[in-house]
Amino acid sequence: MHQEIHPDLEKVLLTEELIQEKVKELGAAITRRYQGTGRPLQVIVILKGAAIFAADLLRRIEIPTRVDFMAISSYGTRASSSGVVRILKDLDHPIEGFDVLVVEDIIDSGRTLNYLLNTLKQRKPASIATCVLLDKPERREVDVDPEFVGFEIPDEFVVGYGLDYAERYRNLPYIGVLKRSLYQEG
Ligand code: IMP
Ligand code: MG
Repeated sequence: MHQEIHPDLEKVLLTEELIQEKVKELGAAITRRYQGTGRPLQVIVILKGAAIFAADLLRRIEIPTRVDFMAISSYGTRASSSGVVRILKDLDHPIEGFDVLVVEDIIDSGRTLNYLLNTLKQRKPASIATCVLLDKPERREVDVDPEFVGFEIPDEFVVGYGLDYAERYRNLPYIGVLKRSLYQEG
């Protein structure tokens, strides 16, 4: 089907079809990994960026799950996230003794996820792993290694399918590269 590209985008990086195909694969891999543990998988969705990805992913996981949400905001700018993360909304329930799967939209420097994992590990989960839709390995500054990765992408600022720029574009069904003129000063 012909998709009109949003005028603020340079190009489409990942089409809706490609994303859905990958989400299906990730769901199957997660199902295989956690099958037969005898307890539900505790999925933690990181708001807001991962909300759309997680909504699709959860429907592809075919084992019992519990779902909880955490909203965070990282200090710093787009160019360098400081890694100091403020929890805006914490989990509703303890995760002690559960296998935890953190669902994130994107790993850039890795600072946000690193901080988050360290915080969650202190709550004594039985295990903890990460599923991230997008990974920008070129930008990594701290050593984090997600167990489930959708796509490795080049160092470009992307929006859509949950990812925003200044709270916009989250509702695009595909992922595209934002025109540089829209976010670069000067
Ligand atoms: P990190 O701490 O540098 O890994 O940054 C991760 C966070 O930065 C993500 O959760 C996103 O909110 C944001 N981010 C990084 N790259 C992009 C991008 O290309 N588009 C939209 N948000 C991004
Ligand atoms: Mg985010």
